[in-house]
Amino acid sequence: MRCASRSDELVFFVNGRKVMERNVDPEGTLLTFLRKNLRLTGTKYACGRGGCGACTVMVSKHDPVSRKIRHFSVTACLMPICSLYGAAVTTVEGVGSIKTRLHPVQERIAKSHGTQCGFCTPGMVMSMYTLLRNHPQPSEEQLTEALGGNLCRCTGYRPILESGRTFCMESNSCQQKGTGKCCLDWGENDSSPLGKKNEICTKLFAKEEFQSLDPTQELIFPPELLRMAENPEKRILTFYGERVTWISPGTLKDLLELKVKHPEAPLVVGNTSLGPAMKSQRQFHPVLLSPARISELSMVTKTSDGLTIGAGCSLAQMQDILAERIAELPEEKTQTYRALLKHLRSLAGQQIRNMASLGGHVISRHCCSDLNPVLAVSNATLNLISAEGTRQIPLNEHFLAGLASADLKPEEILESVHIPHSQKWEFVSAFRQAQCQQNALPHVNAGMRVLLKEGTDSIEDLSIAYGGVGAATISAHRSCQQLLGRRWNELMLDEACRLLLDEVSLPGSAPGGRVEFKRTLVVSFLFKFYLEVLQELKKLVKLFSVADSRHRSEVSDQFLSALEDFPVTIPQGVQTYQNVDPHQPLQDPVGRPIMHLSALKHATGEAMFCDDIPVVDKELFMALVTSSRAHAKIISIDVSKALELPEVVDVITAEDIPGTNGAEGDKLLAVEEVTCVGQIICAVVAETDVQAKRATEKIEITYEDLEPVIFTIKDAIKHNSFLCPEKKLEQGNVEEAFEKVDQIIEGEVHVGGQEHFYMETQRVLVIPKTEDKELDIYVSTQDPAHVQKTVSSTLNIPINRITCHVKRVGGGFGGKVGKPAVFGAIAAVGAIKTGHPIRLVLDREDDMLITGGRHPLFGKYKAGFTNNGRIKALDIECYINGGCTLDDSELVTEFLILKLENAYKIRNLRFRGRACMTNLPSNTAFRGFGFPQGALVTESCITAVAAKCGLPPEKIREKNMYKTVDKTIYKQAFNPETLIRCWNECLDKSSFHSRRMQVEEFNKKNYWKKKGIAIIPMKFSVGFAATSYHQAAALVHIYTDGSVLVTHGGNELGQGIHTKMLQVASRELKIPMSCIHISETSTATVPNTIATAASVGADVNGRAVQNACQILLKRLEPIIKKHPEGTWENWIEAAFEQRISLSATGYFRGYKAFMDWEKGVGDPFPYYVYGAACSEVEIDCLTGAHKKIRTDIIMDACCSLNPAIDIGQIEGSFIQGMGLYTTEELKYSPEGILYSRSPDEYKIPTITDVPEEFNVSLLPSSQTPLTIYSSKGLGESGMFLGSSVFFAIADAVATVRRERDIAEDFMVQSPATPERVRMACADRFTKMIPRDDPETFKPWSIPIA
Ligand SMILES: Cc1cc2nc3c(=O)[nH]c(=O)nc-3n(C[C@H](O)[C@H](O)[C@H](O)COP(=O)(O)OP(=O)(O)OC[C@H]3O[C@@H](n4cnc5c(N)ncnc54)[C@H](O)[C@@H]3O)c2cc1C
Ligand code: FES
Ligand code: FES
Repeated sequence: MRCASRSDELVFFVNGRKVMERNVDPEGTLLTFLRKNLRLTGTKYACGRGGCGACTVMVSKHDPVSRKIRHFSVTACLMPICSLYGAAVTTVEGVGSIKTRLHPVQERIAKSHGTQCGFCTPGMVMSMYTLLRNHPQPSEEQLTEALGGNLCRCTGYRPILESGRTFCMESNSCQQKGTGKCCLDWGENDSSPLGKKNEICTKLFAKEEFQSLDPTQELIFPPELLRMAENPEKRILTFYGERVTWISPGTLKDLLELKVKHPEAPLVVGNTSLGPAMKSQRQFHPVLLSPARISELSMVTKTSDGLTIGAGCSLAQMQDILAERIAELPEEKTQTYRALLKHLRSLAGQQIRNMASLGGHVISRHCCSDLNPVLAVSNATLNLISAEGTRQIPLNEHFLAGLASADLKPEEILESVHIPHSQKWEFVSAFRQAQCQQNALPHVNAGMRVLLKEGTDSIEDLSIAYGGVGAATISAHRSCQQLLGRRWNELMLDEACRLLLDEVSLPGSAPGGRVEFKRTLVVSFLFKFYLEVLQELKKLVKLFSVADSRHRSEVSDQFLSALEDFPVTIPQGVQTYQNVDPHQPLQDPVGRPIMHLSALKHATGEAMFCDDIPVVDKELFMALVTSSRAHAKIISIDVSKALELPEVVDVITAEDIPGTNGAEGDKLLAVEEVTCVGQIICAVVAETDVQAKRATEKIEITYEDLEPVIFTIKDAIKHNSFLCPEKKLEQGNVEEAFEKVDQIIEGEVHVGGQEHFYMETQRVLVIPKTEDKELDIYVSTQDPAHVQKTVSSTLNIPINRITCHVKRVGGGFGGKVGKPAVFGAIAAVGAIKTGHPIRLVLDREDDMLITGGRHPLFGKYKAGFTNNGRIKALDIECYINGGCTLDDSELVTEFLILKLENAYKIRNLRFRGRACMTNLPSNTAFRGFGFPQGALVTESCITAVAAKCGLPPEKIREKNMYKTVDKTIYKQAFNPETLIRCWNECLDKSSFHSRRMQVEEFNKKNYWKKKGIAIIPMKFSVGFAATSYHQAAALVHIYTDGSVLVTHGGNELGQGIHTKMLQVASRELKIPMSCIHISETSTATVPNTIATAASVGADVNGRAVQNACQILLKRLEPIIKKHPEGTWENWIEAAFEQRISLSATGYFRGYKAFMDWEKGVGDPFPYYVYGAACSEVEIDCLTGAHKKIRTDIIMDACCSLNPAIDIGQIEGSFIQGMGLYTTEELKYSPEGILYSRSPDEYKIPTITDVPEEFNVSLLPSSQTPLTIYSSKGLGESGMFLGSSVFFAIADAVATVRRERDIAEDFMVQSPATPERVRMACADRFTKMIPRDDPETFKPWSIPIA
């Protein structure tokens, strides 16, 4: 039982206000405390395990050693609340507010368009704010480092960096100045690359407007805390919770005595290892010891032979200490420190480095620890202390393997780590390869050290340790011993590789998979080390004895680039758009880069998301119970143990549903049978979210497994398991054409799925009203009408009793079109059954497990072409993995087939598509809706044709592209003029041809690093292929004070639809945007809405808003005519007096879309968006890593309603597409369980993944009469342009394979992960690794595409 009376008082400050808490739960985190106890909801929950930065806050503490105040960013979701004793916390609310004063960081991120959905924004603000508290004028490198741990799924990061850059020292002039790309570089008579000077704009915000940063205005460190720190409390503080007791001693002596008393109790320091383990592995510790107040653990001692760092020092402090030592000592002594520092720079994000301690890191002995391999090879020792005294143990393979004889005793703690200096003729290096460059756990890492006999190249001592290739860090002791005395040359290398592969053996079924890749890295890293040492030896050549010098190996110039790691660079770029007509009235906002309406509120944390709604009276929480079997009969569900738990109110099963339980084959709650792991079976309702979650583990479900169990597309084809009939389009005579062509190629393309990873997980709050069965539903959805309808049929009550409200959505990307209705309906059943409001907030793991994502695709192509690359016949067959229910799979198949031709005119075409039914969670809508996967097949085919013809791919693309007014495969007429303009513009702006030559030059000179370049055209059709989906409505009220309230059918997902709608209303009514307001989207104000999707939200709703405004203006016309000199307010007053209705419904009937699948003809899309992108990359052939050097995008936005928003959509979707094609990899177990359920395992792009140079241009206007003011919807199209990075990587890999005489026509697999790139660059190392017979082991994961 919690015992508040015995507990000490937890004292800390939040935003300058003192918090005194006696009843604190040691299991609680700062995040829950802020959000629930203090109602500070600006700090967001998005992953709960330190991986996304959405919960970033600043913690300030008095450092007893330096006697200074230390400000550091932390992730509140991992910060134990009890650890804050004596600390000052600053949240986004404490930084600034729109009600009082905005902080420059908040102002700038908003005005630079650094926010879209705004869910990541408070975290970004806090990371930047903390940086500025420490460095008011940071360097760009510090800025990137500070933001490396913050994920954003919307913006593509460029504008966020841009806002931060305005504080940087170097940023006082345009980044492009002097490069010829800056507008200031253009002379009087010059024309810009896109047209006439005055028409083109590159400025999206006015920097001059920004208030300057005044560090004196910041909150001071509370004097009370300073006093507390100067006279530190020495007594033991104890906080008792229901299950856990937190003990924080004030002296080392007390800590050691406590350790004797509680030998099993862990020491909680950063909680970055314990916290996630307690959460996901359900580890439980009844007593936690906190050494936070023990200054002895933070001591740093510089000795003549090395450096002793206190175990309590954070990894960030360690970075500073090492950097300082490196600057002070000669290079030869700092080899180990350099190696450690290199790894520390890419270990996690800044927040985790600020929290995690060296002691916690070493003692956790994670199998992929970045520091332990380096510490192990460099003979580091651990200084242990207990009540009995002190002793030292080596940090060696025995300790790392956890051998009891080499480990800490239960009553001992780690006091410090001693790291010896390196010496002359000694070389230490560190290597790591992860899914992406920064903020990603390594797949494999290594520490390597060699000591050569003075003046020779013979090995006196050698140590090599690897992480990621076993359950712990593995030391290759045996191999190293055998190599002693050998000379550092090729012979030794060969022998070393052989020995290492034998000693560091990894079974085919090893956890984490990627076995062959890991084996290859083991030897590739050694090769890199070998070269590095050779290179160092070259510098020491003078010291060699003559005999040794003669036979010494050297690094050839071609190999030198293998030595360099890709640096973290700060992206640069220009965004170009067409300015508004100079005659356009200043007050008319259309076409101007207006800031997102909610941007300032996003930046201050005042923007309310679904879960930020305060707790409602008698509210209960819901947690879901999901299937652990892929295909099974449910024999029984025993809920009794769950119901016995305190605070548990009820368990909701299918039997509780008063109306319809979903659709046949797609039940809301499973009945009798489950068809995938993650299928919802029932839901627990409890008084707290923690208790509801705990109770789900007590529900016992017995299953009987059923056959067949199908996960892969291959198996689905074998079992003829499909969700819907085949979709097919054909033109010309494909078979006949194949007979007449010069060459034919066939190939396969596998495209992995994609997780939406919207930062705000699925959430809903259902409030039952007391009268007439009414329900209010607050939900994060793209389609409130669908939620409303589903709840109505589930509860069997009319639709008119249910009101769905959507204020804003923290990212959707298609993932919140269908699924929110399921969660809404289940929560509504709970609300009706219990009579209480129900809040359902999915945690990240459940969200990723349950909701499905983009369909994985398997495509086969056959192309017939002439020797000069003209494709005469193309036959493509695609299969998508739809999962266990239909969901949107039929529509996705249709779209896929309709869009497969992309930009190409091929006379004889056949496209076929099928959606496979498998025992995986159902896949659903995702930005681009099949196009990003399908068009990759088409483009891969084109690339393969180019290779066969011996021509560059861009030539084949150009040759086969639509050139004149034509008809698509489904006979829709269109004019490709803009497509050609985009292509040419892109070739020109990117200086494609000269850069292609430079790439070739580079490749000739470098063997282990290769560059690749690719340009991709795009014809993207927007809209739904059904007429009824193109309608929209709006409701506009003018109130008697002249203020206007607009409601429309679109939902604010971050794409700025509300901002655009106000721009429309402002133009139509001729009043400033500030007079107009949008409160929310609600099914009560605009009924029967269509999902906000398919890029047409602003198009159709804009027309509806326009219509309503025009109706109102027409009504006001007589009054205005009579009093033209009057003000808006006068006219409204007069209208009211004259009984003129000041409310109007606007309606847009929409585009008549149709598609006749029988005949294969139709007019399914209102218009196309055209674009082109060119990307250049460099790959490391030894590790598979890549660096994005440059991307140029040209997009046809027609007459953009808001260029800042549209450029934001293009950049954001491009980066999301880049993630799809390079790093985002879903991993499933052979039992169909999704492994990748957190940002640790699933890597979306981070700030360091943005191309080093990233230019986006909107093509000067073309016309689209169908849309509002001739604008175009750009929500999805940029996604596919991310494939230019994929094809640039493929180009580099193809060069490698050509150079090494390996067949070029290998299977195309997306994403182009480091694993795939490395294994495709076959070499002597890939050849030497052992390969397992697939029949002899069970792999850790299975490919499902
Ligand atoms: C999002 C995220 C990303 C990460 N990325 C990386 C990465 O890229 N590379 C990498 O190597 N690591 C990574 N990590 C792991 C991280 O480095 C470790 O979790 C961290 O160093 C552990 O330190 P801590 O202070 O938080 O330990 P805690 O979680 O507080 O404690 C961990 C363990 O250490 C013990 N302990 C702590 N101090 C002492 C002591 N003085 N004496 C005895 N026992 C002690 C505790 O009893 C406990 O069992 C990541 C972690 C997170 C959350
Ligand atoms: S919610 Fe804390 S880091 Fe993601
Ligand atoms: S704005 Fe960054 S996640 Fe949406």
